[in-house]
Amino acid sequence: MYDTLIENIGQLILPAEGPLKGDAMKQLDVKENMALAFEDGKVAWIGTNEEAQKLKASERVDAMEKTVTPGLVDPHTHLVFGGSRENELALKQAGVPYLEILQQGGGILSTVEATRAESETDLYEKAKQTLEQIASHGVTTLEAKSGYGLERESELKQLRVVKRLNEESLLDLVSTFLGPHAIPPEYKGKEEAFLDEMIRLLPEISEEGLAEFTDIFCETGVFTIEQSRRFMKASQELGFQTKIHADEIDPLGGTELAVSMAAASADHLVAASDEGIDSLADGDTVAVLLPGTTFYLGKDHYANARKMIDSGAAVALATDFNPGSCVTYNLQMIMSLAALKMRMTPEEIWNSVTVNAAHAIGRGDVAGCLCVGRKADVVLWDVPNYKYIPYHYAANHAKAVWKSGRKVWERRGARVFSVPQPGQGC
Ligand code: NIG
Ligand code: FE
Repeated sequence: MYDTLIENIGQLILPAEGPLKGDAMKQLDVKENMALAFEDGKVAWIGTNEEAQKLKASERVDAMEKTVTPGLVDPHTHLVFGGSRENELALKQAGVPYLEILQQGGGILSTVEATRAESETDLYEKAKQTLEQIASHGVTTLEAKSGYGLERESELKQLRVVKRLNEESLLDLVSTFLGPHAIPPEYKGKEEAFLDEMIRLLPEISEEGLAEFTDIFCETGVFTIEQSRRFMKASQELGFQTKIHADEIDPLGGTELAVSMAAASADHLVAASDEGIDSLADGDTVAVLLPGTTFYLGKDHYANARKMIDSGAAVALATDFNPGSCVTYNLQMIMSLAALKMRMTPEEIWNSVTVNAAHAIGRGDVAGCLCVGRKADVVLWDVPNYKYIPYHYAANHAKAVWKSGRKVWERRGARVFSVPQPGQGC
């Protein structure tokens, strides 16, 4: 007797174990007329719909010939922050560049001010609501960064919120310390001293189990390649895995640095050089691409996903959800942008938000694939096939989402037709 049996699945999407590099990203196992059962939070059985008719389960779900996939993995979010930045939209419309807004003390620094001012409880409550929205869009595992504190107490406050969300929610959150995200006003002109300050926090973060990864914003006017190398080295010496916001705006060589340091991921890569792109094929660093950010910043030039995949890199996709450069938690929308703006195929896109995304955050052995014995992180999509999601953009196609076999979200029908209103009788 299984706990749950999803039967009558039109398409069951089974990404292979990864990380998938280059041509391997073009393969996607798509099985038709299937069924899937969970027990004790794990996938317990996968077979044909015909075989499923003999099975017993406490709950039977009719997928109505729609599509079932692993829970999505979002490997790059700035989940926890105070305030919002809708006032910057006008600046962006006036053509003020992202880095200039930052230099003027706005952008990331305005979120830093708001985050420092908010209590841990308020940050938790806000992030909790965001997390529910994220889950409703089909994501069951995600990464969450700090980086809006830029001083000890506020950075730890953000990391404690992530830890608590991981403990108290059903979702899996992977925590990243992004202390070197910007230079706070009190350290203007003293970048090295600020970096030292962030490096001094690493032992405490490690001892308290507040983060598994570290990250740094390597960019003109923020942190240099040399500073990034120093921070990554210090992180690795303490047992952290590393990530880097690399080559987002200027081609500083962050991609090459990430590969040479065996970073888990290099993220953004819009301006990565040909050498940087080529280096990805030889290393184990996953290229995490964030087309939602390019879109939101109003740029025409997207990361060269085609060249990366065609030359052998492992590519993943993420939202980069944050209050300034990408204000969406809809990973399905990112899948559409990957198709429309980066010419990724549907198969490459699905591998990028499942298996490769899981590898980018050190969860390749527990998330991103569906096989017997794995956590039952499953999405039932209200779509006829897997190609439909990148095609029909900006909607939420998730019909039901299970995390470790427990339903964390289900779409309730709209009440647009035929609902009697109070006092209308009959
Ligand atoms: O990944 N590029 C740096 N950090 C974030 C943006 C954060 C913000 O603008 O608040 C990013 O895009
Ligand atoms: Fe980011």
